[in-house]
Amino acid sequence: MGLMRYKSAKLLLRVLVVVFGASLVLHSFFFKSDDYWQHTLEKQALEMNKVSKFQPRAPVHEVLSFIEEIQKDPKGTYKLGSLEKGIAFHWDDWMDLTTGDALLDKYRTELPMGQCDAVLDNYCSVNPYWMESYKTKVLRQAVYAYCKAALPDRVVVTTDSHYVHVPVNSEKSQRLGYGHTSHPQEDVILGMEKIQAKSKDSKNFKTHPIVRLQREVEVPMEDFTYSPEQEMVKLQMKMGGHKSTDKKDNDNDDVDLQKLTRKEQEYFHMLRYANTHADTADKFFKYPWIYSDLFKGQAHHLSAPFFKRFISDRERESVIHHMIRAWFEFAEAHEIVTWINYGSLLGWVYNGVNMPWDTDVDIQIPIAQLSKLEQDYNRTLVLENPRYGNAKYYLEVNPFYIRQGNGKNFIDARFIEVNSGLYIDFSVLSKSIYEPPAELFEGLEEKEKNKAIALNCKNFNWQLYQEILPLKYTTFEGGASYIPHKISSILDRKYGHASYTSKLRFMNHNYQQDINMWVPDRICKASPSDTNRFVSEKDHSKLSLEGACNSVLLQDEYEIIYQSAQRHINMESKLDSPVDYDIKTTQPLPILRKDAWEYYNDINNQYVDNDRWFIKHTISSL
Ligand SMILES: *[C@@H]1O[C@H](CO)[C@@H](O)[C@H](O)[C@H]1NC(C)=O
Repeated sequence: MGLMRYKSAKLLLRVLVVVFGASLVLHSFFFKSDDYWQHTLEKQALEMNKVSKFQPRAPVHEVLSFIEEIQKDPKGTYKLGSLEKGIAFHWDDWMDLTTGDALLDKYRTELPMGQCDAVLDNYCSVNPYWMESYKTKVLRQAVYAYCKAALPDRVVVTTDSHYVHVPVNSEKSQRLGYGHTSHPQEDVILGMEKIQAKSKDSKNFKTHPIVRLQREVEVPMEDFTYSPEQEMVKLQMKMGGHKSTDKKDNDNDDVDLQKLTRKEQEYFHMLRYANTHADTADKFFKYPWIYSDLFKGQAHHLSAPFFKRFISDRERESVIHHMIRAWFEFAEAHEIVTWINYGSLLGWVYNGVNMPWDTDVDIQIPIAQLSKLEQDYNRTLVLENPRYGNAKYYLEVNPFYIRQGNGKNFIDARFIEVNSGLYIDFSVLSKSIYEPPAELFEGLEEKEKNKAIALNCKNFNWQLYQEILPLKYTTFEGGASYIPHKISSILDRKYGHASYTSKLRFMNHNYQQDINMWVPDRICKASPSDTNRFVSEKDHSKLSLEGACNSVLLQDEYEIIYQSAQRHINMESKLDSPVDYDIKTTQPLPILRKDAWEYYNDINNQYVDNDRWFIKHTISSL
């Protein structure tokens, strides 16, 4: 009884705190403008950048030096580790965990190998869905990353011509040292060029050449079917066990795990675990629940435990700009086929870039392709080419991708940018075992209907195999990517025809057709009349200040998306039948948004005298 009363008192207290928090948030939500909120976020980011000692290029520099040393003597043992065992890895060396300083500093000094103890372990073993204050949440997340987060299996270095796979030592309690050394960008570029020259025919590391995306891609129908039971049978036969997949037999002893490779063993354990729990499992990918975020829900788009602060619109746009390229380049080189869809595709339809308020990227993948991706590359940390930025992307696959289960796990994998927690969401498509809705076949002739194959994701978005394939090459956010073959029928069904043909107002933005971009209403609610919008009649690549409704921000944004929009409108105005073009001469556009860390670092160190995000990194590979 006493305990019950204590529990309900505690619950009541929590409810009161939530209500109080909610009213505060409501107040700020209704009485502070979006402008103010964006400004606040930027100010916070600048302050955090200023106090942080973390140098994102430090670990990159270390890994590049390690590769260089191995290239000289593959048998050696170096500061980071050895080729045989892999490199030492500690998230504290790779992520900015300043938000955990209050607890972690003591441990960093006393246990320089990066170990934790029961107190810390206990402190961070809290479900991210536990509602608490921002400060406690980020502290807990930092401690979790420090103590408990799974280590990557490999770090993949991106050079101009190759990916170099560096294995990670799975034994914890080692680290490269808490490196705060700052390295100018030229240093890491030089380091990258050095190892690249030698990695072409290197036998020491697995490498994958960077290749250009293709004009069209077919995916065989088999890639849309997958059965965890059959996969288990295959492995059991290899182990010499009998063929039953009956749940009772899961723990039978007449199979010999030793006959499997380490990778196969891990796959087998995962299949067994996921197949048993898919119907009762909680969500695999979580975001942090925070009182002050109750209404805005900004944390929904930031993955735990990487969340450190809320991200402003423009920083998010930059992260997404870099991330989409990094993904499609990685996928092509590693023979994984994916394509953009839904929200991202809707943005593309207008002007070839993501919509400015869109908080993530939606990517689809055939289920068997995801299975391959998972077996080969789950827990891979991909480093952005240091020429273009400091991002680090962590690929993590949800074990419940294997079947529908209870439907809670409809995000099957994530490619997470670890500095911000922003991500690309992957959903698998499989050949449907359910009854498709009639509207899926609308507009098809009888003959086509008979051939049409229905696919669905776990969230029951339906598509036809014939709508998606063959995939088409396109430029999205300036980078090479793939889109489904037939776009209009997919968007018609999902959003309605008007959503992308006549809708020019959306989420406090208005689409100004004379400049091909979404403009925040707070800047101007419509195109200004009686003014020339461009700096000159001939050159439409820049807006005059007047033409930009007197907003420097709009000038900056326009310059960033100008080329993407031009290319899209010239070539892809007819969505389902783009203008014929030569893929060889249709190169990806330059990277046009500054790296987020550099943006804040440049301002704090007064390397720049403006706060523009526009930058121009021409792509030197390919
Ligand atoms: C991928 O790795 C994560 C982190 O260790 C793990 O929780 C998850 O189960 C793995 N996914 C699969 C499909 O094996």
